[in-house]
Amino acid sequence: MLAIIGGSGLAQLPVLEVTHRQVVRTPYGDPSCALTYGKLAGQNVVFIARHGYGHSLAPHEINYRANLWALHNQGVKGVIAIGTVGGIRPDMAPGRLVVPHDIIDYSWGRKHTYFEGPERPVVHAEFTSPYDHALRQRLLDAIKATGISGVRDGVYACTQGPRLESAAEILKLERDGADIVGMTGMPEAALARELALPYAHLCLVSNWAAGKGRQTQVEFDPAVAAKSVEALMRTLEACFA
Ligand code: HPA
Repeated sequence: MLAIIGGSGLAQLPVLEVTHRQVVRTPYGDPSCALTYGKLAGQNVVFIARHGYGHSLAPHEINYRANLWALHNQGVKGVIAIGTVGGIRPDMAPGRLVVPHDIIDYSWGRKHTYFEGPERPVVHAEFTSPYDHALRQRLLDAIKATGISGVRDGVYACTQGPRLESAAEILKLERDGADIVGMTGMPEAALARELALPYAHLCLVSNWAAGKGRQTQVEFDPAVAAKSVEALMRTLEACFA
């Protein structure tokens, strides 16, 4: 069984045939919300809304450790994380789907490891390639099968938020090598790695990053948003078919 973590605007998965919900507690506190079980294209899936059902949790308030631990505890074999991002690279236009291949983490002050405290060993998780190769390939194949214009690679910059970036900050991220920017990709990917859970990110570009386009606000153009969410759903269906 695979897990799906839904991001902004995806507190529910329209393509999921829900069978039941389960409240889970963890040694790290409560996850963002109850886990939703169901079938997607006939396959068992467990879903969690990263920001909670009512989108009540800001990126820095999310208990990433509890969310990943809860999913791991259900015995999932991998995690497909969905998130919206701002586009930095010229081909990362609003509406695009991107499957990033690498990460730069600019977030701070988040509980970002399971390996801390007196009872825990010091472990340095290997993170050269943050995303799972096979799971990324599955997403890329699904995008291809649906004929949607996706982008095969990209470096994901994770900022702290909840505010958006300044134009100068985006230029700095660009000089650093970042192609897209979001606020929730870390420590999620690293915690998945610590749990040895294959993890891949399916990103939806919702806006041009600050200074990169005329529209700077994070509000998604409703017409583009509707089309993109539809593309995302078709991609997920193809991924599980
Ligand atoms: N910056 C950071 N996070 C985001 C953005 C952005 O422009 N758009 C969606 N998530």
